[in-house]
Amino acid sequence: MLELPEEVTIKEVGPRDGLQNESREVPTEDKISWINQLSEAGYSYIEFSSFVHPKWIPQLKDAKQVASSIERKPGITYAALVPNMKGLETALETDVDEVSVFMSASESHNKKNINKSIEETYPVLREVVQEAKGAGKTVRGYVSTVFGCPYEGHIPVRQVIDVSKQLLDMGVDELSLGDTIGVANPKQVDMALYEIRKQLSFKDIAMHFHNTRGMALANVLVSLDHGITTFDSSLGGLGGCPYAKGASGNLATEDLVHMLHQMGVSTGIDEPKLRQAASFIQRTLNKPLASHVMQIERSR
Ligand code: HMG
Ligand code: MG
Repeated sequence: MLELPEEVTIKEVGPRDGLQNESREVPTEDKISWINQLSEAGYSYIEFSSFVHPKWIPQLKDAKQVASSIERKPGITYAALVPNMKGLETALETDVDEVSVFMSASESHNKKNINKSIEETYPVLREVVQEAKGAGKTVRGYVSTVFGCPYEGHIPVRQVIDVSKQLLDMGVDELSLGDTIGVANPKQVDMALYEIRKQLSFKDIAMHFHNTRGMALANVLVSLDHGITTFDSSLGGLGGCPYAKGASGNLATEDLVHMLHQMGVSTGIDEPKLRQAASFIQRTLNKPLASHVMQIERSR
């Protein structure tokens, strides 16, 4: 019989990963309203924006304003991406709870995304992690292109483990392993996790699936079977990395929550409130959201 946990933690990345890939600019007040609705839906973690260069990700240039205007709900960790010290300095001017550093397991994507080689990235992130921790923040570390790179194709799991170990050695509190372009299949996830668990503890690991080829939920199921209990997802299935050719939507939170609740796994998330928040961003973006739950919602 399939072994399932009683509870899963869902980390909402829609306001960051979701909106960074939208061509339509979302007004700041709508982002704030959306994040406030998410805060009411039962999450324990919301990634609200990125303190990156506005030329690279113009969609999130209002990160500071968003950070200072959202209503903070006790019990929720409000997190943001930071690529370097400049981003961290701005993030620390807000009362962000957690910062997320990010890099790639593949050279070409790392270069395209943050303009540095993997080796050049380590000292930058080491300083960010050290300073963030000194300021009393927790730190998350994303590893991208874990299951495939848009420029290099297959990425050996050894490379993923190397980058992951470096991030953990720097002091990150949690790793999030990203299928940036949504190429992973369940067997591949099974084999990768089998190798990773020999070297890293799963209590420090979250999975971050994109659903480009419709395999994200199947990949979650395999990860659950391995004992992973933290997953990133994006409301409506919005998302993608503008610096990863072909990257599209993240796993949709409402589809993930639906599957978990149907299987008796609790998430703390209220499904009707989630659908309301999804309908809000659907109206704001003026496009039908790709998730299965929202497809059903539209047909009612
Ligand atoms: P760069 O051009 O190499 O930066 O960009 P630089 O250090 O050479 O500095 C150039 C100028 O940028 C300077 O200004 C800096 O002050 C400024 P000047 O002196 O010329 O006036 N600058 C900044 N301004 C604002 N905020 C900053 C910042 N840093 C420098 N933080 C940089 C390097 C990392 C900044 C750039 O490449 C960048 O912003 N990249 C972000 C790309 C990004 O956000 N990608 C998407 C997120 S990753 C993702 O989606 C994957 C994930 O979801 C997991 C998965 O799915 O796998 C997490
Ligand atoms: Mg992503």
